[in-house]
Amino acid sequence: MDFQKSITKENLARSFAAECQEGARYQFLAEKAQQEGYQYIMTFVRSLAKNEMSHAKMFFQAINEHGGDKVQNIDVKAGYPFRTGELADIFKMEAENERMSGESIYPKFADIARDEGFDDVAELFDLVSKVEITHKNILTNFYTGLKKGTLYKCKSGVHAFKCDECGTIVEGKTAPKTCPLCKNGQGYFRVDFSII
Ligand SMILES: [Fe+2]
Ligand SMILES: [Fe+2]
Repeated sequence: MDFQKSITKENLARSFAAECQEGARYQFLAEKAQQEGYQYIMTFVRSLAKNEMSHAKMFFQAINEHGGDKVQNIDVKAGYPFRTGELADIFKMEAENERMSGESIYPKFADIARDEGFDDVAELFDLVSKVEITHKNILTNFYTGLKKGTLYKCKSGVHAFKCDECGTIVEGKTAPKTCPLCKNGQGYFRVDFSII
C-alpha cells in the first residue's frame, strides 16, 4: 500500500493534531489547578501534557518516515473538543477523551494500519492507546477526589502525606491545611490514588 494514498497517513495526521491540542489543554488545566491552589495536581497534569507532546512527536515522525519528501500539507477532517468548565468537570471531560482514544480510536487506527501493511504504525497506535488508558484512570481519580473532597483524606487508618515542595511527611487521616515547614497549602501535598 502506497503511504500517500493510505488512510493511515490521515489517521496519523489526525492523531498528531489531537495530541498537540491535548498537550495544550493540559497546560491550560495545569494553570487552572495552580490558580486554585492544587500545586501537586498542577505538577502531575504538566507531566501528562509532556506525555501528549511525546505522542505527537512520534506520530509526526511516523508520517515523515513513511512519507519522506512527498509529505506536504495533509488535510484532516475531524472534530476536536473545545468545552471547558470547573476543574472537576474538565477532569471528567478529559477522562472521557482519553477513554475514547485509548479504548476506541487508537485501537481502530492500529487495525487499519495493520490492514494497510504498516505494522510499525499499528504497534505505535497500540502502545500509545495503553498510555491513554492509564491517563483515563488518573484523570478519573482526580475527578472523583475533587468531587467527593477525598483527595487529601485517608479512607481508613493513618496515611503519610508528603509535601511536594519541601518533602515534609505528615502522618494522619487528612493532609494538613498548611505544611508545617514550608507553610504552603494543602494542595502541595501529594495525592495518593490508593486513598481516593
Ligand atoms: Fe497521548
Ligand atoms: Fe493522554
